[in-house]
Amino acid sequence: MKKENIYILGIESSCDDTSAAVLCNDRILSNVVADQKIHAEYGGVVPELASRAHQQNIVPVVHQAIEKAGIKKEQLSAIAFTRGPGLMGSLLVGTSFAKSLAYGLNIPLIDVNHMQAHILAHFIDEDNHKKPPFPFLAMTISGGHTQIVKVSSHFKMEVLGETIDDAVGEAYDKSGKVLGLGYPAGPEIDRRAQLGNPKAYQFTKPKVEGLNFSFSGLKTAILYFVQREVKANPNFIEENLNDICASIQYTIIGILMAKLKLAVKQTAIKHIAIGGGVSANSGIRKALKESEQKFGWATYVPKFEYTTDNAAMIAIVGYLKYLEKDFSDFDVMATARLKI
Ligand code: KG4
Ligand code: ZN
Repeated sequence: MKKENIYILGIESSCDDTSAAVLCNDRILSNVVADQKIHAEYGGVVPELASRAHQQNIVPVVHQAIEKAGIKKEQLSAIAFTRGPGLMGSLLVGTSFAKSLAYGLNIPLIDVNHMQAHILAHFIDEDNHKKPPFPFLAMTISGGHTQIVKVSSHFKMEVLGETIDDAVGEAYDKSGKVLGLGYPAGPEIDRRAQLGNPKAYQFTKPKVEGLNFSFSGLKTAILYFVQREVKANPNFIEENLNDICASIQYTIIGILMAKLKLAVKQTAIKHIAIGGGVSANSGIRKALKESEQKFGWATYVPKFEYTTDNAAMIAIVGYLKYLEKDFSDFDVMATARLKI
């Protein structure tokens, strides 16, 4: 007998992207993301504006995802949503919407941890994407998080190290602000970095024990450096922007790779996956590719559309939990500081 298809609707609203996706088993049928341009004017996410924008976007985004998938909402098997971590006002919109829709359709509700989802995005079935075998190490690098996680099975994860202050994406975005770049600055710094000299300027790397990270000192070092240089030459930024970006990127990639090397040494695990917005970065992708030859690692990099926040990664976790009948009660609460 042919196995029945499972259709999962995933909903993501933890920060400033409203997203909905539909999966058929572990294949993506649709993945719609509405990002919120409004925050660019403020140079960072404004929580109050984010939750309002989610309210406006959620119905049309979900509607589009179902329509693009070519199914009827009555065919859905379950609804998966981001429970946390994230901004409370933003999470509440997705959580309440998911509950109401699951209740109305009388289907299971599945809560998903956003950070687990960044890792499990690797299990979306895609042509030409190999899935990491267990155990593997996952480095999640985004605007809100920087972690190295040992993944022993889909749901057995152990955080080996994490940032003690800013996330790596914040280091990109805040350095970009100092340089007068728009928000988020990560992609622009990355683009310019590829045109500049990575060794033009040196920034001291933070000294943090073990597998933890720190990025706030680097941000301050860049700020002071730029202020000093601009004092001597008011056109310093414009004249050297590509070199400054390349040097910042070189420093950040150096920090990430050093911690990964230490994690491999400590665990003897050589399968390395990355996830989160910063995993779109060309520097980290290149460094990982090189590590395959250099250190004999096997590396796993997500497709671009699954790097920054998206609901496809929420839906795949929903599917994996659905197989285990791991459903949520309807009184489940959004949790801003949810741990892996
Ligand atoms: O995962 P994500 O969409 O949201 C969070 O959960 O934080 O990550 C957004 C972050 C931003 O800080 C953005 O600047 C950064 O990812 N980012 C990049 C690149 N693309 C996005 N950073 C460096 N290089 C990139 N190409
Ligand atoms: Zn994220």
